[in-house]
Amino acid sequence: MEKQLQHFEYLVYNDINGLEDTDSWLLKEAREVTQHAYAPYSRFQVGAVIKLANGEIIAGSNQENASFPIGLCAERVALASAASVYPDIPIDTIAISYHNLNGTSTHPISPCGMCRQALAEYEMKQQTPIRLILGGLSGQVFVISRANDLLPLSFSGNAMNT
Ligand code: THU
Repeated sequence: MEKQLQHFEYLVYNDINGLEDTDSWLLKEAREVTQHAYAPYSRFQVGAVIKLANGEIIAGSNQENASFPIGLCAERVALASAASVYPDIPIDTIAISYHNLNGTSTHPISPCGMCRQALAEYEMKQQTPIRLILGGLSGQVFVISRANDLLPLSFSGNAMNT
């Protein structure tokens, strides 16, 4: 038996003002896009904005349904749009924010497990890192250099080919 240590480094900014211009613009857009969410059930509005390697910007927001499991997270809406419109262009960065109509929106959002898996899949597909910028409407911002850092020991298609 041996112990394995998984090391995870990320950047923590006190607020959006510490970010470089492109990153702060992206996070502001993600904050704006929370207004496009259709989240009448949770009242938790999420916005995700992707910057592609060619500079194109693709946005997504969470889309809920009275049949709850049908609902889609903002991240996967944005990822599916980007992959549909620009299937061969790698994703450079995704900025994610939220507006919690039930409470506060001052802590960086933590993407759900399903979205982490989806991000890991696209990162694997494109073979280059997808950066994440995680924020609320105010407060600290986390910058993570690659999506797979959020999903240690992730399941991938490789497992089916070995
Ligand atoms: N949600 C997202 O869109 N992204 C996340 O990272 C976390 C959760 C959505 C799903 C649901 O519509 C609402 O937020 C509450 O879970």
